[in-house]
Amino acid sequence: MKITIVGAGAVGASCAEYIAIKDFASEVVILDIKEGFAEGKAMDLMQTASLNGFDTKIVGVTNDYSKTAESDIVVITSGIPRKPGMTREELIGINAGIVKSVSSNLIEHSPNTIIIVVSNPMDTMTYLVHKTSGLPKHRIIGMGGALDSARFKYRLAEALEAPISDVDGMVIGGHSDVGMVPLTRMATRNSVPVSKFISEERLNQVMEDTKVGGGTLTKLLGTSAWYAPGAAVSGLVQSIACDQKKMFPCSILLEGEYGFNDICIGVPVILGRNGIESVVELELTDAEKEHMSRSAEGVRKTNGLLVF
Ligand code: LAC
Repeated sequence: MKITIVGAGAVGASCAEYIAIKDFASEVVILDIKEGFAEGKAMDLMQTASLNGFDTKIVGVTNDYSKTAESDIVVITSGIPRKPGMTREELIGINAGIVKSVSSNLIEHSPNTIIIVVSNPMDTMTYLVHKTSGLPKHRIIGMGGALDSARFKYRLAEALEAPISDVDGMVIGGHSDVGMVPLTRMATRNSVPVSKFISEERLNQVMEDTKVGGGTLTKLLGTSAWYAPGAAVSGLVQSIACDQKKMFPCSILLEGEYGFNDICIGVPVILGRNGIESVVELELTDAEKEHMSRSAEGVRKTNGLLVF
């Protein structure tokens, strides 16, 4: 199993690290445009192999797409990250050009690959890859909901004063501060609805803290986060590579599902060796549907800024 990660920045490198530590891939190629940067990250990571006990070979390359040939899965993290106070949507001008050219270079060398899009604004970048790549929809996956759900579980555990392994929850909708739809009604602690343990007011606070999860970290770090994004990507990659058929909310092209068309937005899917194996359609309440519609409106507005 060969996996390519484009972008040797913090997200790309932490993604490579988590994939290597889980030791399910034969090769991870990291590609970056900055001379020697990916080579350096790959060498540093390879020097952790004997310490962390993995055999995955990590190779770094400067802009040489021929080294990515025949990748089973490719991950696009390239582009500029958010600075404090910026929204993900403000990155579209620069990142759209980068994602378009990176995806076309990748597909030229790996026509059968599955693409995972991480670059922001992620739902719109995923839509851009659909519009420009010609790949079938089950092979284009936007990573947002897996990360947002991990942040939701962190906030739920904090509110419940429970260990994180006790809680479960999912965030669907757009990967933006206003677009996320944390499904508080379905969140549980060991199968018991969380509303049994915390007040509606506290649950609303959990929802609000989850939605601004990325922005909170950007303010603290001066740039956008990398550990949880890297871990979330590695989870999607492993489910595909090992045909685990795990369920994650991912940004995918909707063609009637959840009542939407011609938009990429987060909904639960099963990820296996074919990429998106199926879409899980949940029964949403009127309030959740309304929240999803507002989220979709926001994503469409950003999509409208794309120039093909
Ligand atoms: C975040 C970026 C990856 O939410 O969008 O941290």
